[in-house]
Amino acid sequence: MSKHLIFLGAPGVGKGTQAQRLAQFLRLPHVSTGDMLRASVQSGSDIGRRAAAVMDSGALVSDQIIMDIVAERLFHEDAAKGVIFDGFPRTVNQARALDTLMQDSGSVISAVLHIDLDDEVIVERLSGRRVCSQCGAIYHERYHPPVTSGVCDVCHAALVQREDDQPEVIRRRLAVYESETAPLVAYYHDRPAYRLIDGDGGADAVFARIVEAVRE
Ligand code: AP5
Repeated sequence: MSKHLIFLGAPGVGKGTQAQRLAQFLRLPHVSTGDMLRASVQSGSDIGRRAAAVMDSGALVSDQIIMDIVAERLFHEDAAKGVIFDGFPRTVNQARALDTLMQDSGSVISAVLHIDLDDEVIVERLSGRRVCSQCGAIYHERYHPPVTSGVCDVCHAALVQREDDQPEVIRRRLAVYESETAPLVAYYHDRPAYRLIDGDGGADAVFARIVEAVRE
């Protein structure tokens, strides 16, 4: 039976940073709907064209588009043992659709890792974030700078600031989180798989809490 893990939490709490690390640790694929959408935008595909303006504004892409790309991703051979979802599900409709997908394929959600962090720390983390334009590695100007300024340690491509990391878009994304995604906490809270993770402190300390939580 395949086991799927979910990272839940507001923009900037560290879902991507921790999901990349946990994926290596558990040897499961990291499935970030944000990364998949950004790849579609870069490729100029039909989905990318429809998603680009929505993402730049800080709103959510339609549930239908998201469920199509997730269902397609789960068909890949590397997803047979399970995946680590990052930024998905993001609405109650997506969570219900995921439950149906899990039931139909005889899979389970083995952990819902809800990372919690104060809004003011979130804003500081997102304002200083830089990402690799090529491989998607995540950096921070102050907390996780690359060895050479502006250059990715992993693939040596240029680092960029995401379009949606502008202050006014960050505010919109936090508001969208509260209205659309925060209800998922109640949706998952009473399941045995639910774990609340304190997202404060350095990335190593947060990762240690996550490893502990998935071992429980
Ligand atoms: P997405 O890419 O999923 O963005 P997000 O959820 O807003 O999350 P972020 O990537 O901004 O933050 P994160 O929690 O991953 O933090 P990170 O690890 O980078 O989605 C983007 C857009 O796509 C959405 O707005 C929407 O339009 C669309 N979309 C995606 N999925 C969708 C879905 N399911 N449904 C509908 N629409 C969807 O960390 C942030 C910064 O902090 C980094 O600089 C990092 O280096 C730093 N940092 C991390 N941890 C620490 C630490 N412990 N201490 C200090 N610094 C740290």
